[in-house]
Amino acid sequence: MTETAARVPVDGVAVTAIGVAIIRARESERDDRLYDDPQAKDFVAAARKGFDPERWARMEALADQFYDGRTIGVRLVDERFREAIEAGCGQIVLLGAGLDTRAYRLDLPPTLHVYEIDLPELFAFKEPVLAATAATPTCHRHVVIADLRENWRKTLLDIGFDPTVPTCWVDEGSLGYLNQDWNRQVVLTLTELSAPASRFGAGRMTIDPESPRYRELRRLVSGDDTPQPPAPTHTPDSDIEHWLNTIGWTTEFRSWNDMTAHLPRPTTPLDPRIGTIAAIRR
Ligand SMILES: C[S@@+](CC[C@H](N)C(=O)[O-])C[C@H]1O[C@@H](n2cnc3c(N)ncnc32)[C@H](O)[C@@H]1O
Repeated sequence: MTETAARVPVDGVAVTAIGVAIIRARESERDDRLYDDPQAKDFVAAARKGFDPERWARMEALADQFYDGRTIGVRLVDERFREAIEAGCGQIVLLGAGLDTRAYRLDLPPTLHVYEIDLPELFAFKEPVLAATAATPTCHRHVVIADLRENWRKTLLDIGFDPTVPTCWVDEGSLGYLNQDWNRQVVLTLTELSAPASRFGAGRMTIDPESPRYRELRRLVSGDDTPQPPAPTHTPDSDIEHWLNTIGWTTEFRSWNDMTAHLPRPTTPLDPRIGTIAAIRR
């Protein structure tokens, strides 16, 4: 069989997925790890070959700056996956899946369907790297090559997504890269595709787009010399919870401090308004 070479995205928004893989690879090496993602190191090794050393050093330094909060976030989403499956969700859709490998590493049931939506340049890197490993997913894994600003609904349905089955929709650091109009459009579309008892989690957090780490993130994404796209946007006091209720979801706010209290790793307490709006489709 001929293997396709992995094309490493060295700039553009897909590069952010490599940063998260660096974080997951680091966590997986720890004795006190919160999760194990054995394929993260394969993505990191393959990505490093596509970067010049100076740029790669900047990627690693940036991953360091985001590590503490982001790695705990991965563990919380692992927990959300299990909760959703126990509650009867038969499908999980990852919006901006990046280099996520939960279809492989969480021992998910064989009846479950996981749909990974992301851009073509992301999968041009991810799929060859996965193909070179011996791993196989334990559930049905579907690659959905689509731009969330375009007609991803049709692509998802064409691939086999069933809107009559309760679904868990996961945004783990991706929707913030769309502007607010697109963000809302994505949520409206997934709402239409959601059977009763489907789940969605919307982050409520603050970021300072002018902080050094977000400025560096923008520089890396834009390839340093082109106009810089906006940093991910989030506002803690937005009316998103009210809006979700008006379009058909029942919501419950879970603060970051509460969600992380049971973890065997100390975390810095945050503003109690920061956390996740957990939504269930009526
Ligand atoms: C910060 S990464 C997070 C990836 C993954 N959720 C994780 O936690 O590892 C953001 C991801 O969103 C994807 N993304 C950004 N804009 C997108 C769009 N318009 N359509 C599809 N995917 C997009 C990027 O390609 C990237 O993989």
